[in-house]
Amino acid sequence: MTQLPSKSSTISPSLDRHSPHLTEDEVICLDQVAFGYSRKRLVLQDFGLSIRRGEFLTLLGPSGCGKSTILNLIAGFHKPLSGRVTHSGQVVKGPSARRGVVFQGNALFDWMTVEQNIAFGFRFKSLPKYEQQQQVKTIIELVGLRGSERKYPYQLSGGMRQRVAVARSMVVQPEILLMDEPFAAVDVQTREGLQEELLKLHEQVAGAILFVTHSVEEAVFLSDRIVILDRDLGGIYHEISIQLPEPRYASMNRVSEAFNHYRTELYLKMKAIS
Ligand SMILES: Nc1ncnc2c1ncn2[C@@H]1O[C@H](COP(=O)(O)OP(=O)(O)OP(=O)(O)O)[C@@H](O)[C@H]1O
Ligand SMILES: [Mg+2]
Repeated sequence: MTQLPSKSSTISPSLDRHSPHLTEDEVICLDQVAFGYSRKRLVLQDFGLSIRRGEFLTLLGPSGCGKSTILNLIAGFHKPLSGRVTHSGQVVKGPSARRGVVFQGNALFDWMTVEQNIAFGFRFKSLPKYEQQQQVKTIIELVGLRGSERKYPYQLSGGMRQRVAVARSMVVQPEILLMDEPFAAVDVQTREGLQEELLKLHEQVAGAILFVTHSVEEAVFLSDRIVILDRDLGGIYHEISIQLPEPRYASMNRVSEAFNHYRTELYLKMKAIS
């Protein structure tokens, strides 16, 4: 079976996500970005943010503060009015397979099977058909969808549909995966399972993740770093690094003392701006 490159094979060990002093390398940089849907009302002003290679960064913040807007700017769906968004030093000019996107409404194609939906991830990337098939097969294993390859979205549970959406974005091994409240619509138990799978996947497949959620617990469980955005003009209100015992996906982390400590700190910060 073709292996998707692991972090250890594609990224130098110095960029391992849990090596504390070695994650300085930026993959995405927003520098003095201003953006508004109309010129009369800006959503972001003089906004700056860096995302390091391989890191799991989460944005938290009140509704309407600009989280989805930031993801859309990085994806290349919007252009800043001023300032710049760069990916490995190059200005982002439009969507690219190097930046994967998973939104809440997962947008699978009803008329395509699981494997066809996942293979759709290759639309921006030229790769021989045979290799595409091998990569699809590998990612199907990784997200636990073996046996469902020929099913259509209507035959899947909400959690399985989300797995297909994640697999479709990850199959092309993006350098960053942008995830906008991807698990918000599934029940709590499924959501916890998906979080654990995402962390396992993140360990195996190279790339950073920028995640948006309204759940403090989800943010703490998943992230290397959390940024809380202010209500006004996307200012950064608070930033915190999360250190929990390995393996990060262990469900016991959810009841650890450290987890509670981070949750309380973030809860109070969120309260202060709500
Ligand atoms: N397509 C659009 N046209 C006009 N205004 C928009 C559009 N999309 C978002 N906005 C406005 O831009 C601001 C930021 O929206 P954004 O969707 O980025 O917020 P958010 O932080 O993702 O909120 P939520 O947590 O509710 O998803 C809001 O005031 C919103 O009303
Ligand atoms: Mg949003």
